[in-house]
Amino acid sequence: MTRKGGAQRIVVAGGAGYIGSHVCVELLQGGKSLLVIDDFSNSSPEALKRVREISGADIELLRADLADPAQEGAVIERVAKFRPDGAVHLAGLKAVGESVAEPMRYYRVNLGATLTLVKALDAAGARLVVFSSSATVYGERNANPVPETGALGPTNPYGRTKLFIEEMLRDLQRADERWKICNLRYFNPVGAHASGRLGEDPAGVPNNLFPYIAQVAVGRRATLAVFGNDYPTRDGTGVRDFIHVEDLARGHGAALDHLAGEKKGLALDVNLGTGRGYSVLEAVAAFKRASNRDIPYEIAPRREGDVAEIFADASLARALFGWRAEKSLDDMCADHWRWQRDNPDGYGRLKPQS
Ligand code: UFG
Repeated sequence: MTRKGGAQRIVVAGGAGYIGSHVCVELLQGGKSLLVIDDFSNSSPEALKRVREISGADIELLRADLADPAQEGAVIERVAKFRPDGAVHLAGLKAVGESVAEPMRYYRVNLGATLTLVKALDAAGARLVVFSSSATVYGERNANPVPETGALGPTNPYGRTKLFIEEMLRDLQRADERWKICNLRYFNPVGAHASGRLGEDPAGVPNNLFPYIAQVAVGRRATLAVFGNDYPTRDGTGVRDFIHVEDLARGHGAALDHLAGEKKGLALDVNLGTGRGYSVLEAVAAFKRASNRDIPYEIAPRREGDVAEIFADASLARALFGWRAEKSLDDMCADHWRWQRDNPDGYGRLKPQS
């Protein structure tokens, strides 16, 4: 739960998505009032319905595409009317492969949405943003654990949109010192809400490890392809810092409260990770234990752009916010499995009206 702070009215851009919906629950349980802006291009109104059920609180919703110039006026008007104290910005496209094939779309949507959101916040006098960034902004040559001062250098257009947005927000803060910015660099968010009601619902074939494992466990896909077993890691497979999405959501509440408590404007970059890494095969074994299902896998070639190992130096979030990840890999697997088992088709193909 978040503390009662000076930032009580929050715009959550992209609030219906996997991470956004968990952030909404966390902020509502911390007593905050929310305006979610989402176009449901890769999310479902059903997620917000469930957020309301879990939290017992209402949410205001603006269904809008932040990257569409024709909708900018309506966004500015609605945000002003809401009288926010700040925003959590999670609106954007996030598929690495797609970003390589359609880079201009990624730049237009991710950067464009940010420009509109910033304009609307500025007009409303709410100069506080917690941005959903990613460990993907780091270059490939950093030693682990990676601190926020690590070398930057994303390897694909999606990652570059994250880095460019961080830079845009830092430039904004330099130009107008009233802004309070926190770029949260997520490591590998996995798991689901412990209720089994919220979770990740990827469209099509999952790109990421956990949704893929979960769909194999539930029988929707036959075999997991493990991308490479010849990395210089303890079992040869890739090592990542998996973090429970509820811990991650709590990090957003902590960041908002921290920014609100600062007297002056500032721009921060903060890792959200557990500080330890697990290998792909360790994750598969843990998921197998949690689900009590077989997870057949085969070793496949390395995936282009993957690093052998990356995990966070998570000490800054602890020092600044008093936050640290609390849930274990077994918790991540148990909660991810509960969500997958109870919602084998995610939120369903039928997208209910909200
Ligand atoms: N992996 C497999 N099989 C799969 C999927 C993944 O073996 O079917 C492996 C990967 O090779 C990697 C590990 O599982 O070693 C984790 O892969 P994910 O795709 O789950 O996560 P990444 O570390 O690649 O992803 C992170 C962020 C993304 C971001 C990406 C950018 O979670 O949001 O970095 O490279 F887009």
